[in-house]
Amino acid sequence: MMVSSFLALLIGIGPVVGAYSKPQLPPRCKTIPGDAAWPNKDAWDKLNSTVGGRLIATVPVAHVCHTGGTFSGYDETACADLQESIQNEGAATLQPQPGEPMNPYFYNLTCSPFTPADQPCELGERAVYSINVSSASDVQAGLGFVRENNVRLVIKNTGLDYMGKSTGKGSLSLWVHNLKTLEATKSFNSSYYSGPAVKVGAGIIAGEVYEYVNSKGYRVVGPECGLCGFAGGYTQGVGHSQLTSAYGLAADQVLEWEVVTPAGDYVTATPEKHADLYWALAGGGPGTYGVVLSVTVRAYPDGPVAGGTLRFNNTNSDAYWEAVGLWYKMGPGMVKDSPKNVQFFVSNSTLWVFAFVMPDQDTSAIDGILAPFLPELESRGLPYELKTYNYTSYLENLRNSYGALPYGELCPVYPVLGSRLIPRAVVLNETANKNLMDVYRTYTADEFGWFVGCSFIDTAENSTVRPAHPENSVNPYWRESIAYCNPNNPWHWDDPAHSIRDKNQLSGEFFPAMERATGKTGVYLNEIDSLYTGDWKDTMYGVHYERLLEIKHKYDPYDVMYAHFAVGADEWIIDGSGRLCKAIY
Ligand SMILES: Cc1cc2nc3c(=O)[nH]c(=O)nc-3n(C[C@H](O)[C@H](O)[C@H](O)COP(=O)(O)OP(=O)(O)OC[C@H]3O[C@@H](n4cnc5c(N)ncnc54)[C@H](O)[C@@H]3O)c2cc1C
Ligand SMILES: *[C@@H]1O[C@H](CO)[C@@H](O)[C@H](O)[C@H]1NC(C)=O
Ligand SMILES: *[C@@H]1O[C@H](CO)[C@@H](O)[C@H](O)[C@H]1NC(C)=O
Ligand SMILES: *[C@@H]1O[C@H](CO)[C@@H](O)[C@H](O)[C@H]1NC(C)=O
Ligand SMILES: *[C@@H]1O[C@H](CO)[C@@H](O)[C@H](O)[C@H]1NC(C)=O
Ligand SMILES: *[C@@H]1O[C@H](CO)[C@@H](O)[C@H](O)[C@H]1NC(C)=O
Ligand SMILES: *[C@@H]1O[C@H](CO)[C@@H](O)[C@H](O)[C@H]1NC(C)=O
Ligand SMILES: *[C@@H]1O[C@H](CO)[C@@H](O)[C@H](O)[C@H]1NC(C)=O
Ligand SMILES: *[C@@H]1O[C@H](CO)[C@@H](O)[C@H](O)[C@H]1NC(C)=O
Ligand SMILES: *[C@@H]1O[C@H](CO)[C@@H](O)[C@H](O)[C@H]1NC(C)=O
Repeated sequence: MMVSSFLALLIGIGPVVGAYSKPQLPPRCKTIPGDAAWPNKDAWDKLNSTVGGRLIATVPVAHVCHTGGTFSGYDETACADLQESIQNEGAATLQPQPGEPMNPYFYNLTCSPFTPADQPCELGERAVYSINVSSASDVQAGLGFVRENNVRLVIKNTGLDYMGKSTGKGSLSLWVHNLKTLEATKSFNSSYYSGPAVKVGAGIIAGEVYEYVNSKGYRVVGPECGLCGFAGGYTQGVGHSQLTSAYGLAADQVLEWEVVTPAGDYVTATPEKHADLYWALAGGGPGTYGVVLSVTVRAYPDGPVAGGTLRFNNTNSDAYWEAVGLWYKMGPGMVKDSPKNVQFFVSNSTLWVFAFVMPDQDTSAIDGILAPFLPELESRGLPYELKTYNYTSYLENLRNSYGALPYGELCPVYPVLGSRLIPRAVVLNETANKNLMDVYRTYTADEFGWFVGCSFIDTAENSTVRPAHPENSVNPYWRESIAYCNPNNPWHWDDPAHSIRDKNQLSGEFFPAMERATGKTGVYLNEIDSLYTGDWKDTMYGVHYERLLEIKHKYDPYDVMYAHFAVGADEWIIDGSGRLCKAIY
């Protein structure tokens, strides 16, 4: 009886009576403001009281720059101040704002501080409401609300994400930025690790972690950029570090996750408890399996670190590119079976190593790795400038290369950027190495103006210097790589159309050329342009994709977690009005 009525309803025949007059299937699309199904004010007020008045309605910060639209609030002085602040202080201005993504591509859609005042100010891709999360129960309330009301969910800490994963039209945002807890322990004890550790709240940024652990005599694997979040996108999305050759990738450091699952269960996931969730969260991509409240990671005793810089210029194009090719060829030897890390960028005019990181070594370690290379510069008539320093701690080296914390200064907050993992085999093979250099040479040339930031790291699983780690879902391509490299171009505030052209050129030409030159390998899933057209399931997740998808389905049968290029993302499409809809229905 029940089955046949249900079928009748589905195919639209026969009388539909009583209890069966309600739709039996969940709606295909998440609701957005203006839809009849969008929760009414009472529903939002009720949520607000459940979360103790911590619900915030988004007002775009640039409403002071616009005279029209829902959020018009033009104020010439306030707008000029905002523009100046964004251009000069970058992260400090937007990062603490709920509802504002950092990447201009996502807020340029509407209510940009830099578009003409008479353009209307609307929410666009911004979340409609944010919960200023202070506890697991706030997260549970938010998850319950989106499950019941069919509202899209996003999670945001810094809003740095390059693909717009921490923002979404018509969404309720779990804004974890104020979960600012930090707690070091001398003796974390478990079957899989005993020793120092630090528990990092989901709102903490790298610069805060570094200052804190330094005060306790430790160092940890963390992002190079102080402004980058720690427990969210970074660690869940693999995470590279200046200390990767020494200790491994960020996901390798995880001892436990404090997490609320999409069902609302508040659990601790470790290699022993909820082991599948532990495994998926450690490298399988952020914003996919649950909402992390904190991560506990290994800490290591701090000590001396040698650092420095090296630079040579393009004063003779053929000699220069030959030298750059040799530099790449020597990369594996520089970091193999050692804790060394070498970060540099290449442009048409210079190769600049802006950070050598030699943990627990002195400057003779830098002289050692450069000994075979510097004569090659000399024989090609390329002058160089080398500076080396003995620092007393990791923090001192980091500050000297990346600038003052907590935010750091070197990192471009608003670039157009991609990433490619470079296999050892490519740089060592003369033909493949030359092909890669030709791609660099083409796209760094004047008319394109790209530069490529790169780090030599050793990530081989059989390293003799790194501690063993529990199994995790880091894409195995990482372990075969010698470097990750980021084509990069700054954002043009005064000419967004230029930046859109750069995005298209990166995804349509430069990046595919780099993919061809590097063969079968991966990308860093956190550092890719939103328009990326590659085989993302393989390049971001590799052989782990299917198992990750099973775990996603197991923990999120409610379909509350979605992010661009996240595991399971291809089960969704965005409709013509910006609604998130099931693609398979
Ligand atoms: C200027 C800049 C510098 C960077 N520097 C580095 C670097 O040095 N090393 C490096 O490896 N990467 C770096 N990145 C890349 C960085 O790792 C990613 O942008 C990452 O997504 C940032 O994470 P977040 O949590 O700070 O950002 P958000 O944009 O707030 O979140 C990113 C993603 O993580 C999810 N997420 C956030 N918090 C949680 C949570 N608590 N639980 C579950 N999901 C969550 C969100 O849903 C979203 O999908 C940098 C990026 C930028 C823009
Ligand atoms: C939530 O409640 C607080 C305290 O009553 C109030 O200040 C805030 O404006 C409310 N938020 C929304 C979105 O109504
Ligand atoms: C950003 O703004 C510029 C200028 O208003 C516009 O030409 C461009 O199309 C916008 N970009 C996006 C992604 O909407
Ligand atoms: C968010 O909550 C914190 C306390 O957890 C508070 O200090 C802060 O002012 C709140 N922010 C906003 C924008 O409401
Ligand atoms: C750590 O735990 C193990 C058992 O898992 C135990 O044998 C050992 O004594 C503990 N060490 C400390 C310092 O607590
Ligand atoms: C490289 O060029 C820059 C900018 O012109 C200059 O400041 C620097 O001294 C040059 N370095 C070398 C080693 O020639
Ligand atoms: C660093 O310390 C080592 C060991 O004391 C010393 O040999 C070296 O000269 C120092 N390097 C610099 C640049 O001072
Ligand atoms: C070297 O690279 C070239 C170009 O990618 C490739 O054709 C060749 O097979 C590679 N050689 C070896 C020994 O792998
Ligand atoms: C590099 O490009 C810049 C502009 O993008 C140009 O001014 C410079 O001449 C170029 N240098 C070389 C060595 O090609
Ligand atoms: C690790 O494996 C690689 C390739 O399989 C090999 O070249 C290297 O020598 C190995 N290193 C150690 C320390 O065994």
